[in-house]
Amino acid sequence: MPRKIVKPEDGILVAQNITKQFGERVVLENISIAIEKAKTTVIIGPSGCGKTVFMKHLIVLERPTEGSVYFKGERIDDKEEHRLAKIRTQFGFCFQMGALFDSLTVYENITFPVEQHYKIKDYKALADTVKQKLAMVGMDGFQNYYPASLSGGQKKRVSLARAIALNPEIILYDEPTTGLDPITSDVINELIIKLQKELAATSVVVTHDMKSAYKIADRIIMFHKGRIIADGDADHIRNHPHDVVQQFIHGKVSEAELAALRLGGTKFETQFLPEDFE
Ligand SMILES: Nc1ncnc2c1ncn2[C@@H]1O[C@H](COP(=O)(O)OP(=O)(O)OP(=O)(O)O)[C@@H](O)[C@H]1O
Ligand SMILES: [Mg+2]
Repeated sequence: MPRKIVKPEDGILVAQNITKQFGERVVLENISIAIEKAKTTVIIGPSGCGKTVFMKHLIVLERPTEGSVYFKGERIDDKEEHRLAKIRTQFGFCFQMGALFDSLTVYENITFPVEQHYKIKDYKALADTVKQKLAMVGMDGFQNYYPASLSGGQKKRVSLARAIALNPEIILYDEPTTGLDPITSDVINELIIKLQKELAATSVVVTHDMKSAYKIADRIIMFHKGRIIADGDADHIRNHPHDVVQQFIHGKVSEAELAALRLGGTKFETQFLPEDFE
């Protein structure tokens, strides 16, 4: 792809020429993306291509080796932690491993980020906010449950409610539908669309799930080996000429990867028969 020049004022959240190295290993290479306000931008790409690492740069949980990140035109990647804490109140995030705290109830999980940032004066208002956020994700009534007694989809919904507790302008989702059945996944998709409409939030969603990507995205960006190889709307991605894009969206393994698997294939000398388990 031709190298794009992205300026800090091109979007509400802008990554400009981000390169990230862990030791010698280059995980992101010169990534520039301007995220448009009140739109849903979806990032797709194979496992290990740098999606989560990129997402972490957007709220400065990782700092770039080179390049910069801007939020509302202001550079944020070089700010100190105590200044970032305030900026992060404008972000909601649902991380891939962003599990709920097991020792806290649903109610406490949601009030936790609120109490971290604000001194609560009106507990009744706080309870009303929790009720309202849980209602938005169809989970009002579950306030006193512990995460261990919720299903995977219910936990994701509670973590969505937690992400929106502070009325964020930007919501970052890392694989919100992974591990869920197709119907629950679709509930999550509908929620993302609803939250975006009702809160006019800007959403950035990392996913492997193409059905979800097509449904929720205004724009889809595909990463491959730390670079952007496709960027456009759903039709642009569907009709993309690049083999790697077509193989990814159709869930196919490339010939080269197949050949490598066959070469490195292990031939098992012993085989278990059903009677071995009796
Ligand atoms: N803190 C770290 N230190 C060293 N390497 C890291 C670190 N975090 C991530 N990596 C490496 O960066 C690469 C990209 O990781 P990342 O988590 O962004 O992948 P991903 O695209 O989100 O994959 P998946 O779809 O499996 O979640 C991986 O090879 C990973 O091992
Ligand atoms: Mg990831």
